[in-house]
Amino acid sequence: MKSGHAWKLNPVVDGKPPEYPFTEVPEPPEGYTWDDIAYVIGGYNWKARFIDKNGYIITGPDENATTQYNFANPEVGKEAGWVAYHPGQEKPYNCGPCHTTGYKPEGHQDGLEGIVGTWAEPGIKCERCHGPGSLHVANPYTVRMVVDRDSELCGECHLRGSPEAVNAKGGFIQHHEQYEELFQSKHITLRCVICHDPHAGVVQLRKAGEQTTRTQCENCHFQEAKYQNSEVHKAVGVTCIDCHMPRIVKSAWGDAEKFTGDIRTHMMAIDPDQIEQFTEDGKTALSQIGLNFACRHCHVEGGKATPKTDDELRERATGYHARP
Ligand code: HEC
Ligand code: HEC
Ligand code: HEC
Ligand code: HEC
Ligand code: HEC
Ligand code: HEC
Ligand code: HEC
Repeated sequence: MKSGHAWKLNPVVDGKPPEYPFTEVPEPPEGYTWDDIAYVIGGYNWKARFIDKNGYIITGPDENATTQYNFANPEVGKEAGWVAYHPGQEKPYNCGPCHTTGYKPEGHQDGLEGIVGTWAEPGIKCERCHGPGSLHVANPYTVRMVVDRDSELCGECHLRGSPEAVNAKGGFIQHHEQYEELFQSKHITLRCVICHDPHAGVVQLRKAGEQTTRTQCENCHFQEAKYQNSEVHKAVGVTCIDCHMPRIVKSAWGDAEKFTGDIRTHMMAIDPDQIEQFTEDGKTALSQIGLNFACRHCHVEGGKATPKTDDELRERATGYHARP
């Protein structure tokens, strides 16, 4: 399956690195060999972390320790590299509810004290979304597979806290908040699976240059597709999601001065009267996209397009799809 769901947590067996279908697995952090590693966390697209033989996530002793591997990201203009992850802290692996199948909060997987809870399988397998499959396989005509199309299934993992607020940190929205983000606009009425095939994902399709979603913006918004207040944007090929789903979210890499994180937002509504993106304390995202992120990941010093003042952007953005 092309989706990232299956690949999120991989055991290290007999000191040999796990095989990844899509990426090169990094070597363990400095000072560690594969014999010291129980699991690799992630490693599908954005970043990888490592679990030691006691079940704790490797954080290293102090500020100089670099224990999280970020993959190269041409969209943000970053090479692959190591960064710090909670240096000097003890981090139990309490991530099982969203990264495994058949999770139970009791006990310790493989008897490793740092792992909170147990699971039937690492990673997100068919049974995580469709219920126990063995019954269906044994009795395909009488036991039907669970098929849940509600966004709440996806929201069991693609959320961070309460759906009313989108949490932010360091000039970006924090990752895995797609459910909260969708709640911020009229798209609250849409289901994730109207746009996404949960078995095909987005990342591999994007890399292969294929259509990344089942439904396109233009299918429902054909009027806006017809009227855009800039011949130049059409000529240079600025797309709907360039403005409406900018990378406000950070998982591994981000450059706040260039208004570019590494995951697209699902908020989608743009307010032309709003420039900034966050509340004053920086902890919450505003519900609409401001012009900094809608426009300035391109219109910025060193970006793909010429820098523009707030007034210049506001003037062009207001009534952007109004009929001439
Ligand atoms: C992240 C959750 C998720 C995972 C993991 C997942 N599925 Fe699905 N699957 C869904 C959802 C949601 C639907 C219904 C929406 C759709 O695709 O139209 C579905 C639909 C299906 C259908 C069609 C059923 C019908 O009546 O239309 C089949 C068959 C299926 N999945 C098999 C699998 C198999 C086999 C795996 C493992 C290789 C798997 N799925 C993994 C969420 C998931
Ligand atoms: C509430 C569910 C949830 C919890 C809890 C959670 N994650 Fe995740 N994580 C996700 C989702 C969803 C994604 C992918 C979507 C995104 O990043 O926006 C993700 C992505 C990741 C990635 C990037 C994967 C890759 O292949 O690049 C890593 C690494 C990761 N999580 C590690 C952790 C660790 C370590 C913990 C525990 C300390 C944790 N997660 C807890 C839901 C969760
Ligand atoms: C059990 C937790 C869980 C559930 C339920 C879940 N996801 Fe995910 N999803 C994740 C994690 C974790 C990742 C990150 C995968 C990685 O990077 O290794 C992810 C990645 C993704 C991606 C981006 C990566 C790719 O494959 O291109 C999409 C799109 C996605 N999920 C959609 C959905 C949809 C739609 C649903 C509901 C039908 C859903 N997810 C349900 C945990 C979950
Ligand atoms: C399946 C249909 C569908 C698809 C696909 C879709 N939308 Fe929408 N969109 C809607 C509906 C329904 C509304 C709310 C009704 C309205 O105001 O027209 C809406 C509203 C919006 C709004 C206004 C939001 C607000 O809160 O004021 C924006 C902006 C938007 N869509 C952008 C997009 C973009 C960008 C895409 C592609 C990534 C997209 N839509 C894909 C159905 C869709
Ligand atoms: C250059 C950036 C840009 C591009 C590209 C763009 N939009 Fe917009 N869009 C805007 C702005 C700005 C607004 C808000 C206009 C306002 O409120 O006066 C908007 C508003 C909307 C709305 C809300 C209703 C409305 O008409 O105001 C929808 C729906 C929408 N866009 C869909 C799309 C679709 C679909 C595409 C691709 C065909 C697209 N947009 C391409 C900037 C863009
Ligand atoms: C209106 C259509 C639409 C809906 C509804 C929608 N998405 Fe998406 N999603 C997209 C588009 C478009 C992309 C970007 C595709 C691309 O980069 O080519 C995307 C990307 C993603 C990604 C990968 C982000 C990245 O930058 O790599 C994840 C994860 C994801 N969606 C999860 C979800 C979840 C979970 C839901 C429901 C809570 C959801 N989406 C609802 C259209 C939608
Ligand atoms: C994906 C990159 C990209 C995004 C996002 C983008 N632009 Fe542009 N824009 C360009 C390029 C390229 C040009 C042409 C070269 C230049 O002016 O530097 C351009 C030209 C312009 C121009 C001058 C030409 C004209 O049509 O008047 C204005 C004004 C403008 N953009 C406003 C905006 C606004 C407002 C937004 C956000 C709502 C926006 N742009 C988002 C790439 C982008």
